[in-house]
Amino acid sequence: MLRKLGVWGAAVALALAPALAQAAIKGDPKAGQMKAAMCEGCHGPGGNSPVADFPRLAGQYEDYIAKQIHDFQKGLRNNNPTMAGMAATVASMQDAHDIGAYFQQQKMAKEPIAPVDQKKAAVGKRIYYEGIPEKDVYACVNCHGERGKGKAPHISVFPVIGGQHRDYIIKQLKDFREGTRANDPAGMMADVARKLSDAEMEAVAHYLSSLLP
Ligand code: HEC
Ligand code: HEC
Repeated sequence: MLRKLGVWGAAVALALAPALAQAAIKGDPKAGQMKAAMCEGCHGPGGNSPVADFPRLAGQYEDYIAKQIHDFQKGLRNNNPTMAGMAATVASMQDAHDIGAYFQQQKMAKEPIAPVDQKKAAVGKRIYYEGIPEKDVYACVNCHGERGKGKAPHISVFPVIGGQHRDYIIKQLKDFREGTRANDPAGMMADVARKLSDAEMEAVAHYLSSLLP
C-alpha cells in the first residue's frame, strides 16, 4: 500500500508541473463569454450541452479547459477531429483561459439528459469510492474528489466529472483504454481504464451522470 501511494505521489507531482505552468495565465470570464459564443453551439448555453456527444463544460475548471484546448491544438488529444478543428480557431492561450474562466463560472444543469439505471449506478458508486481491489483499480474518488466534483480549481489536473453525460464518459474511458486518447499526465487514466471491463465503465458512467447539483 505504501509503495503504491509513493508511486501515485510521484505521478501527481509530475502531473502538477504542467498544470502550474498553465495556471500562470489568468482568464477573464467576461471576455470569455463573447469568445465562447461559437462553442455554445455544441456545448450548449452556459456549457450545459443537451447532447451526449458534446461534454458539459459548465463548472469545469478553467485550467483544465485551457489544457484540453491546448492538447487538441497540438494533436496531444487526437480523439475527435471535429473538436480539433474547433480548437484551432482559438487564437491564443489567453483566449483559451478566458473561455475556460467563463465556463468555470457557470452552474451545471440539474437534469441528466439520459435516464439513469439505478442498479448500474449502485455498482458504479462502489467502483467510484472503493475501486476494484482484486483488479488493482485505484478508486476514482482519490483523484476526482467527492461526487466527482474535482478537488479544487488550483488542482485542475483532476477534472470535474460528476454530472457529465454518460455516453461521453464511456467514450473517454474506452479512448483511454485503447490509447486513442493519451493526453493524461503520467498515463494516470490509461492505467485505470485498461483494467475496466465495458460493464464496469458503463456502471461508473451511470453513477457519474446522476451526480447533478
Ligand atoms: C461542432 C461541435 C463543437 C463545437 C462548435 C465545439 N466543440 Fe468542443 N467538443 C466537441 C466534441 C464532440 C467534444 C468531445 C470530443 C471527444 O469525443 O472526446 C468536445 C470536447 C471539448 C472539450 C473537452 C472537454 C472535456 O471534458 O474534456 C473542451 C474543453 C472543448 N470541447 C472546448 C470547446 C471550445 C472552447 C469551443 C469553442 C472554441 C468548442 N469546444 C466548440 C464538439 C464541439
Ligand atoms: C490517479 C488519478 C486518477 C484516478 C484514480 C482516476 N482518474 Fe480519471 N482522470 C485523471 C486525470 C489526471 C485526468 C485528466 C486527463 C487529462 O489531463 O486530459 C482524468 C480524466 C478522466 C476523464 C475525462 C474527463 C473529461 O471530461 O475529459 C474521465 C471520464 C475520468 N477521468 C473518469 C475516471 C473514472 C471513472 C475513474 C475510476 C474508475 C478515474 N477517472 C480514476 C486521474 C485519475
